[in-house]
Amino acid sequence: MYDFGYDISDYREIDPLFGTKKDFALLLKESHRRGIRVIMDLVLNHSSHLHPWFIESRSSRDNPRHDWYLWHDPVGGRVPNNWLAAFGGRAWEWDETRKQYYLHTFLKEQPDLNWRNPAVRKAVFDEVVSYWLDRGVDGFRLDVVNWFVKDEGFRSNPFGLGPTIRPYDLQQHLYDRNRTETHAIMRELRTVMNGYRDRMTVGEVYAPRPGDPALSASYLGDGEDQLHLAFDFTLIHQPFDAESFSRAVAAWYAAIPAKGWPCTVLGNHDQGRSFSRHGGDPARARVAAAMLLTLRGTPFMYYGEEIGMKNGRIGRRDMADPLGKRYWPLAAGRDPERTPMQWTDGTNAGFSTARPWLPVNDDYRRVNVAAQQRDPGSLLSFYRKMIALRRAHPALHQGSWLPVKLGQGVMAYWRVHGRDRIMVILNFTRKRRAVTPEEQAPRTVLYSTHRREGERLGIALELFPYEVLILEGGK
Ligand code: GLC
Repeated sequence: MYDFGYDISDYREIDPLFGTKKDFALLLKESHRRGIRVIMDLVLNHSSHLHPWFIESRSSRDNPRHDWYLWHDPVGGRVPNNWLAAFGGRAWEWDETRKQYYLHTFLKEQPDLNWRNPAVRKAVFDEVVSYWLDRGVDGFRLDVVNWFVKDEGFRSNPFGLGPTIRPYDLQQHLYDRNRTETHAIMRELRTVMNGYRDRMTVGEVYAPRPGDPALSASYLGDGEDQLHLAFDFTLIHQPFDAESFSRAVAAWYAAIPAKGWPCTVLGNHDQGRSFSRHGGDPARARVAAAMLLTLRGTPFMYYGEEIGMKNGRIGRRDMADPLGKRYWPLAAGRDPERTPMQWTDGTNAGFSTARPWLPVNDDYRRVNVAAQQRDPGSLLSFYRKMIALRRAHPALHQGSWLPVKLGQGVMAYWRVHGRDRIMVILNFTRKRRAVTPEEQAPRTVLYSTHRREGERLGIALELFPYEVLILEGGK
């Protein structure tokens, strides 16, 4: 729990804080029974310093696992190079027993595994990946997958400008991540995955703001030989603006290999909540959700997004709390987006009868699943509607995507699959917008936040503020 689960001391156990292996097996079984697949977060760039592999590795310079982590002698009495840890300070930690440094890309409690070592790869694939696949897990989210391999010569990074002025961002990370050797490892992993039916992988390809579609897409290989999906966070870094989103989506699709498949994501546990980022307005949240769920590719939702959970305020009172519960390790911290899911207006928002680790957001009496389930006009009902449409229409879940220019502030695109032809028109502004879609555009309202379904529209349209308009039919 130095990094809240991202420091693993046993890859085959369930942390007792969360339950037992039996609980997990039950979760899997009951999910499968309901047609829900379960993928696990797999953290392989590093383990915990308490993992037996590391304990052994640090015990001497000549133990069998001495080179399972990245050890280095001092250079001129100092650290081997200028690499920094993403969570602050040097990436090197001195070990008194070995009289050597070990590398940690994140915390010193998260030593980096040596992925160049075939024994490490074998252990991970045979003892970790296969272990969970054999137990019926449907796939994995691979944590910081593009950071696994480091430069063989441990060359220092050149200086460069990044998205912030923290020292870490003032280096160009040429040598401590994104090494091409990683792709061979992804191919090995894909071979393991292909040995099972219907399993998937999605890689977290972490790149600083503004995101890096080409880098993310490179982890799909030719579309079939590496990961099934790769995250690109460009959309997370866009302002709430039709033009910016249109450009970002087009760039992402252009990077995807012919046989590859994109995915779309607006938030996760490391980024401020999309609801707050987009202005804290349910009307805007609908536009963003409509985009997420009608774009080409697999949509990913972060819990709470579907009810409009905002960034939590971690108050002064909580400053007495232990490190990690506050504004750490990043300047603004990651706790605001990690507050308990708001299920009901009851105790602790129905999340737990015990005191939750982080405080429940103050709006839970109003913003919760139970209340929104009863309300057909709620954000949750809107998400469900969009998901149902997406399921019902091949154009929406497997069709092609073609952008349409309808004027400033409006994002529009065709989704087409055979005779299923749909046009999505999203007004990102709080103003009415007059638009004139092309002659062949569909005219029948499949869904609108402001109009009746089935309504036939004329050629010239006036969009309502923040209108989501989905049209069907057309030649
Ligand atoms: C990823 C995770 C983040 C974690 C880090 C180190 O970026 O999403 O939560 O702290 O990797 O494992």
